[in-house]
Amino acid sequence: MAGRIPREFIDQLLARVDIVELIDGRVKLKKAGRNYHACCPFHNEKTPSFTVAQDKQFYHCFGCGAHGNAIDFVMEYDRLEFPDAVEELSSQAGLEVVREQSTYRSGSGGNAPRSAPPSNSAKFTDHYSLMQWAANFFQQALQQHPEKQRVIEYIQGRGLDSDTVTKFGIGFAPPGWDNLLKQQRGNFQGEKLLTDCGMVIEKEGGKRYDRFRDRLMFPIHDRRGRVVGFGGRVMGDDTPKYLNSPETPIFHKGHELYGLYEVRQASRTPERVLVVEGYMDVVALAQHGIDYAVASLGTATTSDHVQALVRTAKSEVVCCYDGDRAGREAAWRAVETALPLLRSGTALKFMFLPDGEDPDSLVRQEGKDAFEVRIGQATSLSDYLFSHVMKQADMSNDEGKAHMAKLVTDLINKINDDSLRQVFGQRLARELAWDEHKLNRFLKQETKPAQQSLKKAAQGRGTPLRHAIALLLHQPQLGFELPPQTALQHLNLNGVSLLREMLELCRQQPLTTAQLLERFRERPEQGILRKLMGWQFAVEENLNKEFTDCLSWLNQRFLEQMSETLNQKARDGSITPDEIRQLQWLNIRLASLRQSAKASGS
Ligand code: UTP
Ligand code: MN
Repeated sequence: MAGRIPREFIDQLLARVDIVELIDGRVKLKKAGRNYHACCPFHNEKTPSFTVAQDKQFYHCFGCGAHGNAIDFVMEYDRLEFPDAVEELSSQAGLEVVREQSTYRSGSGGNAPRSAPPSNSAKFTDHYSLMQWAANFFQQALQQHPEKQRVIEYIQGRGLDSDTVTKFGIGFAPPGWDNLLKQQRGNFQGEKLLTDCGMVIEKEGGKRYDRFRDRLMFPIHDRRGRVVGFGGRVMGDDTPKYLNSPETPIFHKGHELYGLYEVRQASRTPERVLVVEGYMDVVALAQHGIDYAVASLGTATTSDHVQALVRTAKSEVVCCYDGDRAGREAAWRAVETALPLLRSGTALKFMFLPDGEDPDSLVRQEGKDAFEVRIGQATSLSDYLFSHVMKQADMSNDEGKAHMAKLVTDLINKINDDSLRQVFGQRLARELAWDEHKLNRFLKQETKPAQQSLKKAAQGRGTPLRHAIALLLHQPQLGFELPPQTALQHLNLNGVSLLREMLELCRQQPLTTAQLLERFRERPEQGILRKLMGWQFAVEENLNKEFTDCLSWLNQRFLEQMSETLNQKARDGSITPDEIRQLQWLNIRLASLRQSAKASGS
């Protein structure tokens, strides 16, 4: 199957495609100053807050926060996954996609059990190939381990057939402390990756052992079908019932949804996505033909989740909860998270199950059709929101109504989509039996997101380190052919390694913002970089001086750190004559730096 697409090709593609031309082909753009504007294609609005910068090859919406380079645009607009978006753009640009020879993992993503796990001499190049190996190992154990019968009985007892087991790549982590570990003993890279990926726990003193022992294993795939984590269920009454992979460089619970990859395999643009609580719910629903369910991984719904759900479902996202108090609380939290991200095209709905039941138990009792009838009766967001808020206010007098209006307007003001805001406003007026005039005094005037965002940009400068990262992101040419910054090599400061890496990338070749950001796709740093991109989007002038100032600040921090270390040595008497000279030089240098900082008034 297809292999990885090499970095050079992506660079070439992003250099060849012009984002203005690309977007203009779908959404008419208007030039305004150095950038282009339009009404945002990703949410409903009347005043344009969608901005495209040709120099950066980047778009950003000040209304809903959508942003990215040409690849992101195609992913979002055409609802494509990364490799397909690259294919699509390439064919538009007349380029043939280049792929590397695939190594161990095939590019199609991992459902079916594939070739035998490699022997212990296998070399892993990255976290993904190690996780795929582990997934294969567990699947193999389900077929070959001497205790497999006990596991198969458990699976059958839960009503799963072998197609479903195969489809979800379910496997068995055998009892024992080192089933995975012993395969990698002596392979330094393999042992390190096992630990980094959370498959092996390392205790103080270096003792190591397998995290997952004697459990039924559910591999968690990312949106590209790569195994990034596992959930493991005990087959008896031990606790915890489910053990999950910890956060790792490739696994973030707040980002992944269990089953999303499988849903997208079944249909690229399903009409409906159902959000449930458990692994077993997703799997049992799929077996009964409800192949559009996903689960959040034992965490509250995050805005990342909502974004992925809204992007996937064509017409509705239905969130399914237990009928108990915890379920209701979780539902309300999801409402608050979702409001800013909703678009008028995709409805959000809620359903609550009878006490003591979950989707797994219900679909097995009553079957697909009856369960889909329940889904069809889900409560709309607006019914749910109003009934929730009206429970908190006494609607029999004006005071209570005003209280309710305040609660609802605060919520409405979180919505970015103009027409949705309008729908909620009208409903509010109806519920209150107030006329428009009375209501409008409550509702905020039309928001001016672009200006709010500018204000944020001014406030969001943060530390000089953060600022330097943001500046370099906006104008990667600031770093082109810059001499290596030795101070940064040794500076001890949270986050400095990111700046170092970016500088190194920018130094070697002229990059656009789009190309630079592309290098961080699916990396943990991508979130912070994209946030900084939004903050600083409107800032344009005088970047060179600001950037040099930031670097000088970092340089000074480094000298201060050195001087602190040497002063400490001087105090405990371990300082050498060489170091004394160094300290004297440092003190002079720092004094003059502080002097000139004072003189320039900063
Ligand atoms: P439930 O306790 O509702 O389990 O947890 P379930 O999905 O019905 O599982 P079965 O049917 O007993 O096998 C719901 C979800 O919460 C997370 C898991 O993601 C689980 O699927 N969870 C639960 C944990 O992470 N750890 C636990 O110990 C329990
Ligand atoms: Mn259950």
